[in-house]
Order: sequence, then C-alpha cells, then structure tokens
Amino acid sequence: MSIRPATQEDYQAILDVYNWAVSDTVATFDTEIKSLPIHLSFFKDFELGYPMHVLTQDKKVIGFALVKAFSDRKAYARTCELAIYIKPGFHRKGYGMTLMKSILGAAKDFNQKVILSKIESETVASLELHRKLGFEEVGTLKRVGYKFDRWLDVTIMQKLLS
Ligand SMILES: CC(C)(COP(=O)(O)OP(=O)(O)OC[C@H]1O[C@@H](n2cnc3c(N)ncnc32)[C@H](O)[C@@H]1OP(=O)(O)O)[C@@H](O)C(=O)NCCC(=O)NCCS
Repeated sequence: MSIRPATQEDYQAILDVYNWAVSDTVATFDTEIKSLPIHLSFFKDFELGYPMHVLTQDKKVIGFALVKAFSDRKAYARTCELAIYIKPGFHRKGYGMTLMKSILGAAKDFNQKVILSKIESETVASLELHRKLGFEEVGTLKRVGYKFDRWLDVTIMQKLLS
C-alpha cells in the first residue's frame, strides 16, 4: 500500500471508487454515476491546485482523498472541505487513517487553516475516523438528503489546521 499525489491519469480510477459509493452507500449524496469527460468538473479544484492523494496497491488505485474549496467567496479562501473514499474490501486495515493524515498534511501545506467534512449522520466509520483525528462535531443538518427512499441527516465536523 502506498500513497501519492494524484495525476490526471488517475481520474477514471478515482471515479470508479467514487461510483461505488454513489451506487451503494449514503456516504455521498450524489445519486448519478460519474463518467469522463462529462464529469471533469469533479476535478476542478484539484486542477486549481488543491491536493488530492491516491492510495494504491500493486499500482492500482484503491482509494482517494481530496480537499476542495468550501466556497468560492474569497473570505473563505483558507477553509476547505474534505472527501475520502476507499474501495470495499480494503476497509478497517488502517488505510483510511493513513490517507487522512496524508491529505491533512497536504491541506496545511496548501495554506488551509480550517477543514470541514459533511458526513451522513449514520456513517459511523467516517464519524469515528474524523473524531480520532481531532475533528469536532459542530452541527447537524436535519433531513437535508433523500437517498434510497429515506431522509438523511448530515453531521458537520471541523478541524483547525494551525
Ligand atoms: C470512512 C473510511 C474512509 C474509513 O477508512 P478505513 O480504512 O476503513 O478506516 P481505518 O481502518 O483507517 O480506521 C481508522 C479508525 O476509524 C474508525 N473506524 C473505521 N471503520 C469503522 C467502522 N466500521 N465502525 C466504527 N469505527 C470505524 C475506527 O476508530 C478505526 O480505528 P480502529 O480500527 O483502530 O478501531 C471507509 O470506511 C470508507 O471509504 N467508507 C465509505 C466512504 C465514506 O464513508 N467516506 C467518507 C465520506 S464523508
């Protein structure tokens, strides 16, 4: 297992991991499979310089983490939002923790001061992973999502990076 910064050559493999979460989980509130080149906008912030890391095994992408702008309003320029996805079959092996530490370091190097995650409120694995890394729960948005025939809450977690 290794972690490295992503390149454009990884885009399809990253979307393949993401599409599993789209079709099988409530970890993302996307409901439509993403494909290239239609959804190149998924990588918009990466192409602006925001970090994105891939987790690989035998040179194959098995997970990714990225940070993107929280808002395009300039006063938010030092606040970013995190996403992390690891393929099923590779969970609970410590990879998420390692990948998170890597992207948090990269976000700090990219001069970000605050990092936020919006986490579906029953997605325990992600909530626990964030807590272990010092994220604090700062609020819950009630019933803001509807997927797989049910309403979903979102927990917002925050960490100060400096
Ligand atoms: C969330 C996710 C990235 C965690 O990655 P992972 O590699 O399985 O996590 P790790 O093995 O590094 O676990 C680190 C810690 O997180 C917590 N954790 C991970 N999975 C957990 C689970 N199923 N239940 C409870 N806690 C869990 C534990 O505290 C764990 O430490 P421990 O194993 O020493 O107890 C992974 O489950 C995933 O990709 N899930 C689907 C997508 C998703 O939910 N992304 C987050 C969107 S906000």
